[in-house]
Amino acid sequence: MCGIIGYKGKRNVKDVLISCLQMLEYRGYDSSGLAVIKNNKIRVTKCVGRIENLKEKVSRYDFDNSVCGIAHTRWATHGKVSEENSHPHRVGNVVLVHNGVIENYKEIEDLLIKKYKFKSETDSERICALIDSFYNGNNELEAIEKATSMLKGSYSLGIMFEGKNKIYGIKKDTPLVLGIGNKEFFLASDICALLPYTKEFIILDDNEIVEIGDNFNIYYDGIIIYKKIETADYDVEEAMKNGYEHFMLKEINEQIDISRKLYSKYITNENINDLIIDLDKYKRIDFVGCGSAYNASLVAKYFIDKYCTNGEFYANCYASSEYRYMNHYFDKNVLVVFLSQSGETADTLACLRMCNEEGIDTVAIVNVISSTMAREAKYVLPMLAGPEICVATTKGYFSQSYICSLLVLKVMYKRKIINREELTRILEDFNKLPKYIDEVINKDYKIIADSIYKNKDIYYIGRGIDIYTCYEASLKLKEISYIHSECFASGELKHGPIALISKRTPVIALLSEFSVCEKTINNICEAKARGAKIITIRKESINIDKNLSDYDIVVPLVSEFVQSILIIIACQMLSYEVAKLRKCDIDKPRNLSKSVTVE
Ligand code: F6R
Repeated sequence: MCGIIGYKGKRNVKDVLISCLQMLEYRGYDSSGLAVIKNNKIRVTKCVGRIENLKEKVSRYDFDNSVCGIAHTRWATHGKVSEENSHPHRVGNVVLVHNGVIENYKEIEDLLIKKYKFKSETDSERICALIDSFYNGNNELEAIEKATSMLKGSYSLGIMFEGKNKIYGIKKDTPLVLGIGNKEFFLASDICALLPYTKEFIILDDNEIVEIGDNFNIYYDGIIIYKKIETADYDVEEAMKNGYEHFMLKEINEQIDISRKLYSKYITNENINDLIIDLDKYKRIDFVGCGSAYNASLVAKYFIDKYCTNGEFYANCYASSEYRYMNHYFDKNVLVVFLSQSGETADTLACLRMCNEEGIDTVAIVNVISSTMAREAKYVLPMLAGPEICVATTKGYFSQSYICSLLVLKVMYKRKIINREELTRILEDFNKLPKYIDEVINKDYKIIADSIYKNKDIYYIGRGIDIYTCYEASLKLKEISYIHSECFASGELKHGPIALISKRTPVIALLSEFSVCEKTINNICEAKARGAKIITIRKESINIDKNLSDYDIVVPLVSEFVQSILIIIACQMLSYEVAKLRKCDIDKPRNLSKSVTVE
């Protein structure tokens, strides 16, 4: 989604803005721009495409001795990708950048249409005009307050006024932080963007206005308030590529270390600790998330269905965009678990707020601990994955599935479905993960990728937990390689999808469920008989006829509670190698954005 940067300080303003914008590239964007104040005048420069284009364009102007500036990466929502629609927008004396969506922008336009001629199709330009309509040359705070009180929707704004060497920021329902350096101040949608300059920041809450001059003030309802300064718990190196060709590859490799971190936080003395919540007191758990986060929650439901469900206790999984608009029956026996890497995904956040209003107990399994979800959920289980920059999640999904498995094991232990010895044995496998992940990452995926990367369609099949891993594997492949991919419960193949199989169509079968592997092998035979190219990704103890499988990846045998984690890592690597051969922009797939802060 769109990203906002602001800077006031002694460094070269344009250079700081560009370098911070580059740190926000991972969020996804289609155009960018900046506005800089020099000699009391604001110069706006913007362009379509990569930040490199903006860099080239601004290099034509002299920005020396600029005092402050704001900048933006745009991910088109209102209006096509064009220079007019990119930010910053200027109307009258006001220049502004905006992240979010204004629902009543047409009404605002109707109010202002006699006074202003609009150049863009964006809701953002209407906000700019609204602020200008209240501005008398000297009442910046009042103009911002009056204008934003009329807005319906979500926004974070970076605002400057012609002739004033200051930056203002305000937000509602999308993130904005104030970065604090040594006699220099920043605005950003994400603290990650500021890590080369500072780790100190203040999280702005809804309707607070920050005014950045030689120092800063934060106002709420016209009164100065004082807020806690936080320190980011990761370094700039963690947000950089560190020698890897892509963030995705780096993040896949980081899963080794994350499994160590998760183990030491959540498991001590062969016991699961620190999960805060007593799951045992609930009768129903709803898991809610979007995309891969939703896929990770399916792992928890799968195990709850398999081992814990009875008339008294069960779990559901929902995509946030559905959960939000459904009828619900809530009582004190319901726990809702939200999964979100960013902690800002609009639909998931709306569901969390809905549950909080209902007084339901909520848990957020979340990576960004400064995020809105982490602050608003009753309980928080940190994912400890560090900054995830590649748009397609890998380590985020990994961490979510890991924590989901621990949640279920905790329920199983408390309900005496497993005893101490069994729990200890299972947890030993969590401890072995770093070594096994390393082993899985270092298998040869290039040779398989080479044989399938030119195909137009690739299918995944599996049964039991494998079908849920297939959801995530298929999503990963299509989003980064743009190859059409679907997955099917393998028993469903002959009920329709087998019509799609022709000579050399790749079918990737995931095999980690011993009890149903013979059935899946039968389905593989059916696909093979129609000419499919078969790739099997299986656990060590499941054997497969050499003639059946064209390519075979074997992952170490571990407890079923972590087996799917090893299988998905093999799928992540395969998707990565395929996308690389197709020369795709792996870390920034087209049309996607990292933090989906609009509905
Ligand atoms: C897919 C992917 C997305 C996210 C989804 C939820 O690779 O990254 O499907 O999982 O947008 O994002 P979070 O977890 O930030 O709520």
